[in-house]
Amino acid sequence: MRILVFTALWFAGHALALGADTGNAYPTQAAALAERFVGMLKPQLKQAIADGGPTHAIAVCADIAPAIADALSDESGWSVKRVSLKSRNASRAIPDAWEQEVLLDFDRQQAAGVAAAELHAEEVVNGQYRYMQAQIVEPLCLVCHGEALGSDVQETLQEYYPDDWATGYSLGEVRGAISISRNL
Ligand code: HEC
Repeated sequence: MRILVFTALWFAGHALALGADTGNAYPTQAAALAERFVGMLKPQLKQAIADGGPTHAIAVCADIAPAIADALSDESGWSVKRVSLKSRNASRAIPDAWEQEVLLDFDRQQAAGVAAAELHAEEVVNGQYRYMQAQIVEPLCLVCHGEALGSDVQETLQEYYPDDWATGYSLGEVRGAISISRNL
């Protein structure tokens, strides 16, 4: 009898903890990680452009962006990455089936006028908690993701990313998303 009660209590506690994690803590943690990614990358991108122009910034970004994703993943125990329907980094940014659906949905919502900050999604998929936050094209982004790229920018992109699809964007479009997940 006592064992039964203990077992029941353990399950109740466990369910509560899981509920708390998936219901409250996980979305907050995932959103915080997405914010930190942007907070770490954007100032370095701007600094690199100021220091040596866009071509220098491409070289810096090629090192720093994957390093930030890996550092945040190692530190948090979550998987932290960036994905896009038109990827630049062919080895890291190609979306899986769930990410692709969410990105298509972000595009639809963006076209329907939903505010950039609202473009996030979360779902439990195959035993994983998954979260995505859209990244919207701002004036700064157009230098390397826009329609009219400088020839030096095109050359540098070709050198670093021969399979680059991530150009031709205009202001306000969804460039991609930060995708964050962890096993439940
Ligand atoms: C100086 C050039 C440059 C600027 C400016 C720039 N990017 Fe990028 N972007 C890159 C490079 C280079 C990569 C590939 C980095 C990597 O290897 O992970 C990239 C990759 C990305 C990715 C990851 C998905 C993919 O396609 O590989 C997203 C999302 C992204 N950029 C969004 C933005 C947004 C939003 C802005 C504006 C706030 C921006 N970028 C500004 C050069 C730039």
